[in-house]
Amino acid sequence: MFRIKTYNAISVKGLERFGRERYEVGHDIAHPDAVLLRSHKLHGEALPPSLLAVARAGAGVNNIPVADYGQQGIVVFNTPGANANAVKELVLAGMLLATRGILPGIAYAQSLAGMDDAAAMHALLEKEKSRFAGHELKGKTLGLVGLGAIGALVADMALALGMKVLGYDPVLSVDAAWRLSNAVQRMENLPALLAHADYVSLHVPAMDATRHLINAEALRHLRPSAVLLNFARETIVDPAAVLAALQAGRLGRYVCDFPEPGFAAEPRVIALPHIGASTEESEENCAVMAADQLIDFLEHGHIVNSVNYPALRMHRAPGSCRIAIANDNVAGVLGHVLSALADAGVNVLDMSNRSREALAYNLIDVASAPEPAVIDAIRRVPHVIRVRTL
Ligand code: 3PG
Repeated sequence: MFRIKTYNAISVKGLERFGRERYEVGHDIAHPDAVLLRSHKLHGEALPPSLLAVARAGAGVNNIPVADYGQQGIVVFNTPGANANAVKELVLAGMLLATRGILPGIAYAQSLAGMDDAAAMHALLEKEKSRFAGHELKGKTLGLVGLGAIGALVADMALALGMKVLGYDPVLSVDAAWRLSNAVQRMENLPALLAHADYVSLHVPAMDATRHLINAEALRHLRPSAVLLNFARETIVDPAAVLAALQAGRLGRYVCDFPEPGFAAEPRVIALPHIGASTEESEENCAVMAADQLIDFLEHGHIVNSVNYPALRMHRAPGSCRIAIANDNVAGVLGHVLSALADAGVNVLDMSNRSREALAYNLIDVASAPEPAVIDAIRRVPHVIRVRTL
C-alpha cells in the first residue's frame, strides 16, 4: 500500500487515478510515501523519513525546497504545460483589461443602477461612452520574457491576434525551441526586448536568477505607455519600482496575478488573486498529470518531469525485481553497487543510469528479489542516498 498526503484542493479527477487497492490518499496521512500539492509551502516543514517523492500539480516549484530534497533522495515532480492554456487565456484577458475601457465601463454602467428611464439611460450611455474608448491589440508588439510551455502558447495566441511577437529566454531548451513559432523574433537581451514592446509578459520561474528581474533599471527601458503583465511569480517584479514607474509616468499599466500592499490604491494596477491556473480544466490536467507521474515513480521507479532528478524510464525485464537507487553523481558508485550484487550472486538483467548536476539515478533489474542484506550492502556504499526495491 502506498500512502499519498495531499495539500490544497486537488482535483478529484487526479485523486481518482490512485486505485484504492494500492493507495491511501488524504490530507491527514501519516508516514507518506509521496506528497501531492499545489502552492502549499513545504519550506521549514519537518520531512517525514518515509517520503520518496513530491508532485507539484502545477508549474512553479518555489514552494518546495527542491535542491535540499534532492540531496535527501526525494524526487520532486511538476506538470509543465498542464495549466499553460489557462494562464494564456488570462494573459489575453489582462491585455484586454489594460487596453479597453472594460473595468471603468462596467463600473460606470453599474453606477446607473438607480435609473429607471430606459430612453434616458441609453442617451446618457451614448453620450458618455467616449470616456471608455481604448486601443486594439492587432498591430502592437508583445515582448515575451520566458519561452517555455506558457510563453509559447501566449506567442501563438498573440500572433493569431495580429500582434508582432518578440521573445527573450537565455535558457531556452531544445524542446521549447521546437515548440516555438518561427514568427517569434528572438531578442539577444532583456533591455532590447523591453525597449521595443508595447506589452511585456513574464513567463519565467521564480529563482535567485529571476528575483526582481524587472527592477527600476529594467523599467527604464520600457516605453512610457507599455503594459507589463506578470502571471508568473511575484518575486520576478520589484513592486516598489513598478509603483514608482507608474507614478512617474514611465509605465502605462501593470497587470498581475499577485496583489501587493499599495497596489489597490494605484488605478493603473490591475491585480488578480493568483487565479492564472484556476480553471476546472487546468486543475484537472495538473492533478491527473501529477498523479500519473507519482504512480509511475512509486510502482515502476520511472522519473518523468522531475525538477531535481534526471528523467529515466526503462522497460521492465519480465519477472524481474527492480532496484531503484538515488546517489550523488560521483565516480565509482555504480561499480560498488554492481560488486555488492555480484558478491551475492545476483544476476543483473538490465540497467540504466542517468545523472543531472550533482545527482544520479539508476534502475537495475535483477533476476530475483535480493536478500535484505544485499540491499543493506548497497545502502552502505558511499554516496548512495536512497535504495528501494519494487
Ligand atoms: C503554477 O505554478 O502552476 C501556478 O502558479 C498555479 O498555482 P496554483 O496551483 O496554486 O493555482
